[in-house]
Amino acid sequence: MQVSSAELLAAARSYQCAVGAFNIYNLEGVKAVIGAAEALHSPVVLQIHPAALTFGERPLIALCLAAADQATVPVSIHLDHCSSADAISLALEAGMRSIMVDGSQLDYEANRSFTSEQTAQIHTRGGVVEAELGRISGSEDGLSVPEREARMTDPILAADYVAQTGVDMLAVCIGNVHGRYRGEVQFDFGRLAAIRKSVSIPLVLHGTSGVPNELVRRCIDLGVCKFNVNTELREAYMNVLRQTHHDLIDVMTAAVAAMQAVVSEKLRLFNSVGLADALSK
Ligand code: G3H
Ligand code: ZN
Repeated sequence: MQVSSAELLAAARSYQCAVGAFNIYNLEGVKAVIGAAEALHSPVVLQIHPAALTFGERPLIALCLAAADQATVPVSIHLDHCSSADAISLALEAGMRSIMVDGSQLDYEANRSFTSEQTAQIHTRGGVVEAELGRISGSEDGLSVPEREARMTDPILAADYVAQTGVDMLAVCIGNVHGRYRGEVQFDFGRLAAIRKSVSIPLVLHGTSGVPNELVRRCIDLGVCKFNVNTELREAYMNVLRQTHHDLIDVMTAAVAAMQAVVSEKLRLFNSVGLADALSK
């Protein structure tokens, strides 16, 4: 069944676990994520990246909405990292009600103003908003320590940002990066604890692929209740394409199985197994 992301994150918070949000690009991705969620009785978020939306357009949204409606577990459909007002309007028109308004490439004032404007529009349509303060890097960035810290979320500014924009979930930058990490993963947990104290809305961590399990657990303890996963799923899919299969259905079936294994492992790690049962009570 389709539910709001806000409802899922609130439940995760009260049960001290986190919801897995997985980027999907096609039918195989949708089947893998929902298959794992149903098998483990876990709620889940299906995420569409703007690049996937450009490719799949409204039919991709329709696929996700239909799959969520038929699922036996709570599923929310979320537009990830969106910095285009046009794409946000298209998503709302097509029925999406959970959107990441991404103004993180802008300076603070411009981010606040873009996010406030879009949040008002999304709230009017009954949707919920995730936003990012700071800037999550790609692993190719190779930043110096001061450059890296300048991109992290400032806990004091975060309180102002949340109050001014009215967003419902905050994506934090504490040393997390998109794609594979170079070397040891190092998170600024002191910063995460300070952000948790300064804002009351649910916190989100991007760049979960490759983060060691103990760091994920520590993030949950410090209030992260949504983890975004993309790279590990894409890698699982691409590895299948490198194997020899002689039939397209065999390729698709193997891709679903490979991605479902990744999703299942993450749902266990996020401790959301069985949360769907608690939600239906
Ligand atoms: O928004 C999507 C995520 O932040 C995915 O990050 O590709 O490093 O798993 P990842
Ligand atoms: Zn992300």
